[in-house]
Amino acid sequence: MAVKDTYSLLSTVVSIANSGKLSHRARLLAIADVLAETFRFASAVFYLPDTERRFLVSSYSPAYPDNPRSCSIPFGEGVAGECARRKTVTAGIPASAHPEEFLSVEASQLVAFPVVDEARLNAVLSVGLLDGFLPPHHEKKLLQDILTVVGGVVRTLMLAEWSERRVKTLTGIGEIGRILNRNLPPRELLRLGLRSCHKQTASSCTILRLFVAADPVAAGLFRKVSPRMRDFLPQFLELESEASARVAETKMPVLVVDLVAEEDIPPSYICVPLFFDSNPIGTVTFFGKEAKKGRYVNFDEEDRDLCESLAVMIAAGMESSLNYRKMELLAEENRKKVQELSLLYRMGHIVLSTINLNKLAYLILSSLTSGTSPIFDRAMLFLVNEKAGNMQGMLGITRNTAIDVLAVADEAAELRETLQRISDEDLLLQMESDFSSRVRGTRIPLDRSKNVSSRAVLEKRLFHIPDIDRERAIDHGFVRKFGISSFAVAPLVAKEKVVGIIVVDNHLSGKPIAPDELRFLQMFVNQAGMALENSILYKRVQDANRELYEAQERLIQGERLAAIGEMAAGIAHEVKSPLVSIGGFARRIQRRVPAGSDESKSAETIVRETERLERMLGDILTFSRKATICYTSCSIVDIIEDALSLLAGPLRDSGIRITKKLAPALPVFLGDSHQLKQVFLNLFANAHDAMRSGGELTIAAFTCRASGAPAIGVRVTDTGKGIPAEIIKKIFNPFFTTKPSGTGLGLSITNRIVMNHRGRIRVSNSAGGGAEFRVVMPIHP
Ligand SMILES: Nc1ncnc2c1ncn2[C@@H]1O[C@H](COP(=O)(O)OP(=O)(O)O)[C@@H](O)[C@H]1O
Ligand SMILES: [Mg+2]
Repeated sequence: MAVKDTYSLLSTVVSIANSGKLSHRARLLAIADVLAETFRFASAVFYLPDTERRFLVSSYSPAYPDNPRSCSIPFGEGVAGECARRKTVTAGIPASAHPEEFLSVEASQLVAFPVVDEARLNAVLSVGLLDGFLPPHHEKKLLQDILTVVGGVVRTLMLAEWSERRVKTLTGIGEIGRILNRNLPPRELLRLGLRSCHKQTASSCTILRLFVAADPVAAGLFRKVSPRMRDFLPQFLELESEASARVAETKMPVLVVDLVAEEDIPPSYICVPLFFDSNPIGTVTFFGKEAKKGRYVNFDEEDRDLCESLAVMIAAGMESSLNYRKMELLAEENRKKVQELSLLYRMGHIVLSTINLNKLAYLILSSLTSGTSPIFDRAMLFLVNEKAGNMQGMLGITRNTAIDVLAVADEAAELRETLQRISDEDLLLQMESDFSSRVRGTRIPLDRSKNVSSRAVLEKRLFHIPDIDRERAIDHGFVRKFGISSFAVAPLVAKEKVVGIIVVDNHLSGKPIAPDELRFLQMFVNQAGMALENSILYKRVQDANRELYEAQERLIQGERLAAIGEMAAGIAHEVKSPLVSIGGFARRIQRRVPAGSDESKSAETIVRETERLERMLGDILTFSRKATICYTSCSIVDIIEDALSLLAGPLRDSGIRITKKLAPALPVFLGDSHQLKQVFLNLFANAHDAMRSGGELTIAAFTCRASGAPAIGVRVTDTGKGIPAEIIKKIFNPFFTTKPSGTGLGLSITNRIVMNHRGRIRVSNSAGGGAEFRVVMPIHP
C-alpha cells in the first residue's frame, strides 16, 4: 500500500481528534480504523497504561465487538509491553507477543509504536503487518506524526477516565457517608459500613479489626469476603494480622502490590488505621482489587487515599453512633429518675396529707402496693414498742385490697380530694381484712439474733433477703405465717429514732425485688418515717389535750359543786328545824282527829311531804358534807347485798326480778363501805324508778383493770326505757332530775363517792333498751 495523500490523511486524523460529536473512546477507535485502512494493517490496537505506568490495562480496537477491553500486560512483556517499557518502536513475531496481546491471524509481524508525552508513555499503538510487508520508512515517519496527534486524544481520554473514576469514587463515598450518618446502632453500622466499603473499593476481602472494645462492640474481627475468595480466607487472615500489627505500630497506611506467594490470591492489599480521638483503635485491610469478574489487579495510591478516607468515615460514624447510644442510655436513665422522683413527690404529698395515724399508715402502705404497676405485692407496717421490747403489727395491705391512691393524683387539689374521700369505714374495712388482721395479731420480738427485722431497727438500715433459706437470722414463725419466701424490710426512721418497719414482698407474682425498687423503697421510707413520727406525736398531743380538757371539766364541776353545796347546806340547816316542828305537829294532829276524816287526810299529806323534804335535806347535807373516806377493807358482794336488802320490799312490790352475776372469789378492796352502799342504793333506786311496772334488774360484779391496775367492776342494768341521748350528759349534774318528786342529787352524790375512791362511773343504754351503769374502782386506791 501507499499513502497517496499525506495531507488529506493528516487532516482526517486531526478532524477526528477534534470532533466534538465523538466521545474520546470513539475518536481513538475511529483513528485506529483510519490507520488500519490507510496503511492496510492486518490489525491496529491502542493499549493504555495504568496510572503507575506498570501495566497496559486497557485496549481499543475496531476489531472488538465492545470497547475498551481490559488487559494486564506488564511493561517489558510481549511486543506492546516491551515498547511501553522502552518507549521506542518495537517489532516482534506473533510468538513473542504477551498472551493478552491482540493477534490477527493474517499478521506475520507485530510493530508497536509508543505514544509519548514529555517522556511519559500515554499509549502504545500495536499494528499487525500482513505477511511479508514492511511499511516504507517515510510511512513510518508519517505514522509518528499522526501518533503525536493521537497523544493529545489519549491524554484527554485518560483525563476523562480519571475524572469519571473520581466521580464514581465520590459517589461511593457519599453513599457510605449516608449509611454512616443513619444513626444506626454501632454493630449494625460496622456491618453495613464494611459492606459498603468492600463494594466501593472493589475489594475481594475486607477485614476490620478492633484492638479495643468500643462498648457495646467487643474487640475482634469483622470481615466481608467475596464468595469466590472464600477459600483464601486463611491466607487473608494471616496477611491481615501482619499488616494490622505493622500499621498499629507506625500508624501509617500500608499499600502492598505484586504479591506472588500464591498464584490465585489477589496481588495487592491496603491496610489503613482507624482512629478514635487520635488513638488508633483498629485497622481496616482491603484485599484486591477485582478489575473484572475474576481478574485481580494491584491497588494504586489513589485506592490507598480512598481507603484512608473510608477509614476516617467509619471511625467518625462509629464515634457518633457510640455517643448517640451513650446519650440514649443517659436519657433513658434520666427519664427513669424523673419518673421515680415524680412518684416520690406524689407519695410525699400523699403521706403529708394527713396527720391521722391510721389513715397515714394506710396511705403509706397503699402507695407501695397500688397504681398501674404496683411496686410490691404486699406491704406490712409494724410499730416499735420499746417498753414491750417488740414490734407490733399495725396494718397489712395487698395489691388486691389497696385503694389506688396514685392513679388520679396528678393535680394536688385532685389528690387532696381523693384522699379526703377515704372514709373511716374504708380504713376500718382495711384494718379488718384477713391479711391485716393477721398482721395486727403479730408481734416480732426485738432481738437482733432472731430476725432481720430487728436488725433493720437496731442498725437503722434496709435489708433485702432474696432467699429466706440462705439467711440465718430469720423468724421462721413469721415467714411461715405469711408464706414469705423473699422479702425486704426497711426501717422508718425519724429524728434518729426508728418508729417502725415496713416489710414488703411479692407474694402473688413471686418476682424478685429489683435493685431500683429497693432504692426507691429506701427513699420512700425516709419520707414516710418523718410523717409517721409527726402523726404519732400529734396523736400524743391530742390525747394529752383531751385529758387536760377532762381534768379541767372535773375541776370546774368540783368548784361549782362546792359553791352549791355550801349554799344548800346553809339553807338545809335553816329549814331543817322548822320542818321537824311542822312534821311533829302534823303527826300530833293526825293522832287526834278521827281516822278517814278530811282533817286526817290533810295531816297525812303534811306528814308525807315533810318526810320527803327531810329526806331531801338529808341528801343535800350528805352532798354538801366534806367527804372524808374511812378506808376499811370491803367486800363488794356485801355492799351490794346490803344495798339490795334495803330496797328488797319496794322492788318486789313493783314486780322486779333481780339477777345477780357475781364472780366467785372476788378480792376485798380498800374503801368506805358506808358511802359505797349509798352508791348502789342510788343506782338501784333509779332502776326501781325506771321499772315501776316491772322488769329485771341485773347486777354483775367482776375483776378488771383500770389504768393498768387491778380493779373491781360492777354493772347495774335495768330494762326500763333507758336515758334519752339529749340528757345523758347531764344526769350526773346536781339537781338534774326528770322526776316530779326527784331531787336530782342521787347520781351526783354517787359520782362523787366513786371519784373519791379514784374510780369511774360510766353510763350507757344497754342493748335491751334500759340503762346500764358501770362502776369501776381500783383495789388499791
Ligand atoms: N336507771 C335509769 N333509767 C332511766 N333514767 C335514769 C336512770 N337513772 C337515772 N336516770 C335519770 O337521771 C336523772 C337523775 O337521777 P338522780 O341523780 O338519781 O336524780 P333523781 O333520781 O332524783 O331524779 C333521773 O331523773 C332520770 O331522768
Ligand atoms: Mg335518784
